Parts: sequence; structure tokens; C-alpha cells
Amino acid sequence: MADKNEWGSNLSFILAMIGSAVGLGNIWRYPYVLYSNGGGAFYIPYIVAILLMGIPFLILEYGVGYNFKSSFAKAARKINSKCEYLGWFLPVAVFMIMIYYSAILGWDGIYIVLSFFKGWGANPDAFFATTLLQSSESFTGLFNFIPVIAIAMLVGWIIIWFISHRDLEAGLGKVSKVLVPALFIIMVIIVIFSLTLPGASIGLAELFNPDWSLLGHFEIWMAAFGQIVFSLSLGMSIAFTYASYTKDDADLITNTISIALANSLFENFAALGVFSILGYMSLQSGTAVSELVTQGTGLVFVVYPTVFNVLGQWAYVLGPLFFLTVYLAGLTSILSTVEPLSFSIQNKFGHSRSKTMTMLIIVGTCISMIYATAFGGTLLGFVDTFINQIALLFGVVVECIIFAWIFKAEKLIDFLNSKSKTITLGKWWLLIVKYILPIFISIIWIGGMFDVVRSCSFEQMIFTIASAVILLVATLIFTILPAKNPEWNNTEERV
Ligand code: PHE
Repeated sequence: MADKNEWGSNLSFILAMIGSAVGLGNIWRYPYVLYSNGGGAFYIPYIVAILLMGIPFLILEYGVGYNFKSSFAKAARKINSKCEYLGWFLPVAVFMIMIYYSAILGWDGIYIVLSFFKGWGANPDAFFATTLLQSSESFTGLFNFIPVIAIAMLVGWIIIWFISHRDLEAGLGKVSKVLVPALFIIMVIIVIFSLTLPGASIGLAELFNPDWSLLGHFEIWMAAFGQIVFSLSLGMSIAFTYASYTKDDADLITNTISIALANSLFENFAALGVFSILGYMSLQSGTAVSELVTQGTGLVFVVYPTVFNVLGQWAYVLGPLFFLTVYLAGLTSILSTVEPLSFSIQNKFGHSRSKTMTMLIIVGTCISMIYATAFGGTLLGFVDTFINQIALLFGVVVECIIFAWIFKAEKLIDFLNSKSKTITLGKWWLLIVKYILPIFISIIWIGGMFDVVRSCSFEQMIFTIASAVILLVATLIFTILPAKNPEWNNTEERV
């Protein structure tokens, strides 16, 4: 019988990890990143980023997580008692992602319903910004509460609670085994349909049209590394936690390769779908693809509904399927964002999995209601920028230092190789995780910070500082609260 925090099988582990990786980043971020960074030529930095960073880093995060079979905070403390603060930093940052992801999930839930009758009307742009979000860029928007969004978010939180408060295999393990394959199947249906639309080839030609001259530009390399960090959920203590939940016989190296492959397959597939549909729209409306293409909420909640408006009857099939895909992708990712903090709390304070999850989900629900106000959309943009451009990249650098240097990545090599049925690690791996990655990611991190500071409005600055303070204080509280679990000081190592 699996323990409360143990996968029932290797399949559950892989599928849950793919579920975490495949999320909004694959659907709304990647197609745009590919298009705006050289099209076909982007594959060169992209593949380099996967081979040089994605796979080696994931192996490191898995290896250390597996070794400790305990939460991120507990392992960081065991590696060096001075690292406990950093051990709470990432789980708390990832929990902040959970809170704003729940808003996007809520919006998407509303669009699933609307898509059955094109409820966004003739002007999807105005509908999204004005009718639904009642978007306001001023603080006063915080006092304008929007009940529809709150209800939709609440539905999401209930689903999350229903899955997460159970034992790992009975909840997340089982759900991943159903939802992740379902997500891939629906995506295949959407893409096949999109490819048959008139004009699809216009979009694809535009997408893949390689601009080789960009290969010499630093930005496209940064974009590729940034995409892989985000898309594979690297350095977020998620992969670490999932690996610590495994039984004693996992082939972590091979798992890593499967996960990276599945993630890339999904996002490239999504790009085919998105650009076929944009090509169709371009043909119908006479607007150039370059003017239609956008990313993020603009793509999902404005461009797609606009396309569905001109698509006729098929929109009633494609629309719901599309918004359902976004929902499933978001759900399987958001489920992973609570695990690191939950497991760390269980380890330090001795509460059960079910009680910890219930408490965290209540706290998350309450805080998330700030996104159900007219200022919510704007705030979400600020927090998203802070977390992705600043906090998480910092996390990757921190993990590289704690794992590769203080823990000493060398210790894992023999063990990982002995289980591997595919590639084996050697000196090249140490070179990557100890030197190349921390240096490279630090450069991207500084570049990103620079961007944020340069383009920041006054409101954004205030809320970025506020998010940083909340993150640092919450982390501090978890660190200084006295442990209640006698096991807290007892950390066994498997390797
Ligand atoms: N990897 C997810 C995606 O591509 C994003 C994510 C980030 C998920 C952090 C969980 C935690 O959308």
C-alpha cells in the first residue's frame, strides 16, 4: 500500500509531472514566443535550451528530491541549516502562482459556458475587458467586487480541494492518469480540425518562416531559456517534491527525457493549432497574421472568441473543446503548485496531508478573491511578471547552488546511472549544473529585472514591492515558527 505521500506507480509520477509542465505556458505563451523569435530558426536555441538546461536541470532536481524523500524545506535544512529560509522561499513563491492561476482558471470556466452560445457577443475585446473584468487600472478598482468571477473561481477551488486533500495516489495520481491523456487527445482533435480550415497554410507559413539572422541576437537565446524554465516548471521545487514522492525503484533519467519530450510535443502541437486558426482568420478578414497574433489572455479570451464568431456552426464544437483544453491544462498545473508548500508544512508541523491541504486551500481561496475585483486583471499582470521574471529565475539559481554545490551533485551520479536504461551522466553533467546553468540563468535574471524596472509604471512598482515583501515575510514566518513534528530533524537519505 502506498503511503499518503507516495505515487502508486511510475506512470502516475510521469503523468502528474507532465500535467504540471503542460499548462497555459504551452498553449498561450509558446506559439507566440516561437513566432516572435525567428520562427523556424527558433528551434536551434530551443533545442539547445532543452538539452543544455531542461534535461540536465530536471535530472538534478529529481535526483536530490528522490534522495531525501522529504519536502523541499526539510531537505534544504538538512543540506545546511542556514538554507532553511531558501527552502521555504520557493514553496511560498509557487503557492503565490497558485493563487493567481486560480483567477485564470475561473475566467476560462466562464468561457467554457459562454462558448456554447457565443455569449461574448459581437465584440469579444470589449466583452472581456469591460463587461466581464470591468477592468480598472486604478487602485479603487479593488473596491469593485465582481461576483461572477468569484463564483467561477470558487468552483475551481472546490475541484482542487476535492482532488488534493486525498492521499496522493488516490487524488492527484488517479486524476493525472485520466486528465493528462484526455488533454492530449482533445488537443489532437482540435489541431486536426484546425489544419483542415481554409487558410491554415497561411498561418503556418508565417509561423515557421525562419529568420536566420536572429540567431546572432542574444534575446532569442534568452527567450528560449526563459520558455523552457517556465514550461517545464523548472526550479520551482515542484519536480523536487514529485520525485520525493517516488518509491525506491525509479529510473529518473529516463523519466526526465519522457517528460521533456511530451512537453515539447504538446507545445509544438499547440502552435500548429493556434497558427492554423490565425491563418483562417487572416483569410476571412483580410488582416495580416502579424496583426492578429498575440499571447496570453489576449489570445485565449479575445482572439479565439473573435475567430469562433466567424467560424459558423463548427464554433459550437471547437469553442467548448478549446476552452476545456485550457481548463484541463491549467488544472493539472495548478494542482502541482500546492504540493511543495503543503508537504513542507506537513513535515515541519506534523499536520496530516488532508488537514494541511484544506487549510492551504481555504487561505488560497480567501486571498484569491482580490482577483475577483475590477483591479484583478491588472494586478494579475503585475504579480505574474514579478513571479516569472524575478522570483522563479532566482529560484533556479538558488537550486543550482544548493543542490550542485552545497549538496554536491557528484554524489548522485552513480546512483542515477545505475537505474538508467537510457543515457548515463558524466563530467559533462557536472559542468552544466555547476557552472553553465547558474551563470547563464543569472544573466537572464538580471536582464529580466532590468526590463521590469525599465518598463514599470508607478502602480506596478508599488505592487511588485508589496508582492516581494509578502513573499519574504511569509517565508520568514515559516522559517522561524518552531517545529512541532519530532521527525523534522530526522532526514534520511536514499543514495
Ligand atoms: N509549466 C506551466 C506551464 O507551462 C506553468 C507552471 C509554472 C505551472 C509554475 C506550475 C508552476 O504553463
